[in-house]
Parts: sequence; C-alpha cells; structure tokens
Amino acid sequence: MSKVRSVGRPAALVLGGAFVTIALIGLGLAGTWRERTDADRIRLDPENAALVAQGREIYRDACASCHGAALQGQPDWQRRNADGRLPAPPHDASGHTWHHPDALLFALTKQGPAALMQDRTYVSDMPGFADTLSDRDIVAVLSYIKSTWPPEVRARHDAINARAAGG
Ligand code: HEC
Repeated sequence: MSKVRSVGRPAALVLGGAFVTIALIGLGLAGTWRERTDADRIRLDPENAALVAQGREIYRDACASCHGAALQGQPDWQRRNADGRLPAPPHDASGHTWHHPDALLFALTKQGPAALMQDRTYVSDMPGFADTLSDRDIVAVLSYIKSTWPPEVRARHDAINARAAGG
C-alpha cells in the first residue's frame, strides 16, 4: 500500500502549486486501492507501433465516451457529481493516470475502480473490462494512452514503475 501511496509525491512537485490539490485527490484515491491482481508482470509498451495502433481503436470504442476523444476527461473532473461519484478523469498528462504504475492501471481497467477499493460501498461509473477486453487488449489501450504523454511524463512513469517493481 505504501508503494502505491508514494507515487503521488513527485507528481505534486511537477505539477506545482495550483495542481497540488488535484495530485492529493489522486493520492487519496491511490492510497485506498487494494491490489488484488497478479498483474505485476504487465508492462506497457508505448514504443510498439502495432500495439499502440490497436490500442487507439480500443480506446475510441471502449473509453472515449467517458474519458474523451482527446483523452481530456469530463468537465470539472476533480469535483464529485451530485450522486457522489467521480467524473471520468483525463488520461492525458494533466490527469493522474500517469501517477500509477502499470500493474495498477491494468487492474483498474480490468476489474474497475470499485472492485479495487477497500471500501465495499464505493460506487464508480467506470465498469471493469474483464469480460469484454482481453489482457492483451488492456495492455494495448494503456500503451496507446502512455504513447500520447510527453517524453518527460513517460520518463517519470518509467521511474514510478521501477520503484513499484523494486520497492
Ligand atoms: C462509463 C464511463 C467510463 C468508461 C467507458 C471508461 N471509464 Fe475509466 N473511469 C471512469 C470514471 C468515472 C473514473 C474515475 C474513477 C472512479 O470512479 O473511481 C475512471 C477512472 C479510470 C482510471 C483511473 C485513473 C486515475 O487517474 O486514477 C483508469 C486507468 C481508467 N479509468 C481507464 C479506462 C480505460 C482504459 C477505459 C477503456 C477501456 C475506460 N477507463 C473506460 C469512467 C469510465
């Protein structure tokens, strides 16, 4: 758990004052994820052009309706809706997707956020994709997402992965 929590810290440094609050929201969420997956061997591959092309199509079909065609997320995504649920966050560099190591991104997509929360009453608008996407599809779509990040954000994500694997 501390492994997951520690990933928010460099993010706060990078994003700076105005975005610290957002980073902390990410941190609070990430701190409560429960890792119930053997997905540690999962590695995104944003350099693999064929995989990324496949992932782009999967993104358009399965993710864009909520996370936005340009990965921009839903408007006002930091604020909970009236029903207490979170809007879909962006998957571009302005969001906190890149704060999470590969294995956690994989688990979030495969099982859905609610299944990973310790709080069993937690409700999310995001479904799990275990029944509709193969593991390879999930790696493809997440590799596509990573391929859109600027080089310095990808490098930071690589470091987060290295820490998650080593710590
Ligand atoms: C029906 C709307 C919807 C669809 C479709 C959807 N998501 Fe989400 N997603 C959400 C919401 C809402 C959240 C916010 C987390 C929560 O509710 O707990 C989220 C969160 C996430 C997160 C966590 C991001 C973070 O910064 O913590 C990941 C990763 C993610 N989605 C990936 C995907 C991928 C990949 C797809 C397509 C295969 C997808 N989502 C499709 C609604 C959706």
